[in-house]
Amino acid sequence: METTIVKVDESHIDIEKINQAAEIIRKGGLVAFPTETVYGLGGNALNPEASAKIYAAKGRPSDNPLIAHIASLDMLDSLVAEIPDSARILMDKFWPGPMTLIFKKSSLVPKETTGGLDTVAVRFPNHKIAQALIESAGVSIAAPSANLSGKPSPTLGEHVIDDMNGRIDMIIDGGMVGIGLESTIIDVTVEPPMILRPGFITKEMLQDLFGTVETDPAILEKPKEGLKPKAPGMKYRHYAPKADFKIYRGEACRVAEEILKQANEKAKEGFSVGILTVEEHLHYYEGKTNQNITVMSLGNIENPKTIANHLFQELRAFDKQGAEFIFGEAFSEDHIGQAIMNRLTKAAGYQIVDL
Ligand code: TXA
Ligand code: MG
Repeated sequence: METTIVKVDESHIDIEKINQAAEIIRKGGLVAFPTETVYGLGGNALNPEASAKIYAAKGRPSDNPLIAHIASLDMLDSLVAEIPDSARILMDKFWPGPMTLIFKKSSLVPKETTGGLDTVAVRFPNHKIAQALIESAGVSIAAPSANLSGKPSPTLGEHVIDDMNGRIDMIIDGGMVGIGLESTIIDVTVEPPMILRPGFITKEMLQDLFGTVETDPAILEKPKEGLKPKAPGMKYRHYAPKADFKIYRGEACRVAEEILKQANEKAKEGFSVGILTVEEHLHYYEGKTNQNITVMSLGNIENPKTIANHLFQELRAFDKQGAEFIFGEAFSEDHIGQAIMNRLTKAAGYQIVDL
C-alpha cells in the first residue's frame, strides 16, 4: 500500500489536507495523526472493518481495545450507555486533554473496537490537528498509539513513518507532540474512579478531587498469575527497545557508580551500550565511559515533564543506533513520576536493581 505523507502545522492548519484525511476515515481507511500525548493510528470507531485494519497494521492482539477520540461532548452521548457523576467532574476539569475515561458502552460501538468488552474508552484530545480531523470526519476516531505493537509509542512524525509507512493510507506529520506519554486511563464505571494507566493527569490531581483514588494494583508490579490488569494493553511487554534494558534504583551517586561499572564491562566486551540519565547527573559520567558507550540525558529532575517528553524518543534513538545494552536511572514515583516509572519499568521488562 502506498502511504500519503503530509506535513501540517498545528498553528496554521491546512484544512484541505485535513479534509482529505477525513475522507479516508469516512471511507474506512486509516490515518495517523498527532495528539498532545503521542501519535494515534485512526480509523472510524463505529466501523468494525476499520478497527480490524488497525489491529492488522499495528500487529496488535485483537483483545486489546481501542480508544475512541471525540472532538465535542455531543459525540460522547452516542458512544456511552451512561455518564456517571465522577466522569462529569473529570470531563469538566481535564477535557480536552490527556485523559481517557472508561464508560459502559452503547450498542452503537462495535465489539471489534472494544476488544470484546462491554465498556468503551473515550478521549477528547487537546490538539488542534486531532480535533480538526475528528470534526471534519464527523465520526469518533478509534486510535491506538501509532507504533508497531510492542515498540515505544511515537512522539515524532518520523517515528510513525518508520513504523507505518506502507501499512496505512495516510500519515499527518505535525511535528513533535507536547507531552510524550500516553493519556491517563481512568475507569469511571467504579466508585471512586480507578487509574488503569498512569499519565500526565496524576494520582495526586485526582486525589484533590475525590479524596482517595486507587491505581489498578495489577500494574504496580510485575505481571503474575491471577492479577490481571483492567486495561488489557497493560499486560503486554510494551514500549520496549531492542536492547537489554536494566534500571538501577538508589542513591544517585551509588547508582551512577554501578551503571558505570556494568556499562564499561559490556563496552569492553565490544557491545554497543547506552546510559540513560538526567542533566543533573551527567557529571557522574563525564570522562569515565568507554568509547562504545553513549550517554543520553532525558531532561531535568527539577522539571520531570522534560523527562516524560523525551523518554520514548531516546529509547527509539538507542534502537536506531543499535544499542545492545541500556542502563538507566530510576525516578521518584510521585506526580508524573508514576507514569514515567510505569513506562520505564515495562520497557525494561521489569529488570530493576535496588542498590
Ligand atoms: O494518549 C493516548 O491514549 C494515545 C493517543 C493516540 O490518544 N492512545 C493510546 O492508545 O495510548 P493505545 O491503544 O496504545 O492504548 C490504549 C489502552 C490499552 O492499554 C487498552 O487496553 C486500554 O487503553 N483500553 C482501551 N479500552 C479499554 C476498556 N474498555 N477497558 C479497559 N482498558 C481499555
Ligand atoms: Mg500503545
